Amino acid sequence: MSAEKKIPQHLAIIMDGNGRWAQQRGKERSEGHIAGMEALRRVVRYAAEYGIKYLTVYAFSTENWGRPREEVEALMGLICKGVEMEAQQLCENGIRVVVIGDRERFSAEVKQAIDNIESMTAAGTTMTFVLALNYSSRSEITTAVKTIAGKIERGELQASEIDEKTISQALYTASMPDPDLIIRTSGECRLSNFLMWQASYAELYFSDVLWPDFDRDAFNEAMQVYAQRDRRYGLVKK
Ligand code: IPE
Ligand code: IPE
Ligand code: MG
Repeated sequence: MSAEKKIPQHLAIIMDGNGRWAQQRGKERSEGHIAGMEALRRVVRYAAEYGIKYLTVYAFSTENWGRPREEVEALMGLICKGVEMEAQQLCENGIRVVVIGDRERFSAEVKQAIDNIESMTAAGTTMTFVLALNYSSRSEITTAVKTIAGKIERGELQASEIDEKTISQALYTASMPDPDLIIRTSGECRLSNFLMWQASYAELYFSDVLWPDFDRDAFNEAMQVYAQRDRRYGLVKK
């Protein structure tokens, strides 16, 4: 296998452990989220330098709305501020930002910040940086089913014509390759409603490192482990 084939084309990350990182330091959970945002800024840089073409991060799940009001507000503030502050730099670095998830529930301010960063960075070709915000796989798949059912209702599609491609193309990730590698930090070993359709043949990597501590060494280690994985896709090795 050639060297470049061992780089994941699409890396997805479940950035977990911000709360515990803060707790361990006697800080508020929101301070963990601030530190988590710094870790994200670093990892975007590592990923682009490494030659990854798609980086998707799980930043806010549909279930996260159920957290205490102060934490949700702190997260919304951080998302808005982070998106506004980073837009210029990302644009200059050729990084295209795409947001996946249901944005209807966000405030006008957050929606505006998301729209701005997407349009500002739309021409970027170095890497696509996908932010999953108010995202969950089940809601994504439910929305896709409604879209497909609507086409059938309007006579634009026959039920018998539905294949895997029809479904893939009705998801938020329609134009993207499936993730090759999914990293979850903080020692939790679950997907928590993240990219469940797209993860069918993803390699999974669980790191004990809490997200704010995820540094270049932790990133490099994940890349090394991935490079040694043998992806068979149900076939027999030659
Ligand atoms: C991940 O860190 C960030 C979000 C889910 C928004 P957590 O906030 O889940 O941190 P822990 O799991 O409580 O440590
Ligand atoms: C998953 O982390 C969501 C994000 C990282 C945004 P959670 O901390 O919300 O997931 P659970 O509750 O441990 O499954
Ligand atoms: Mg968590």
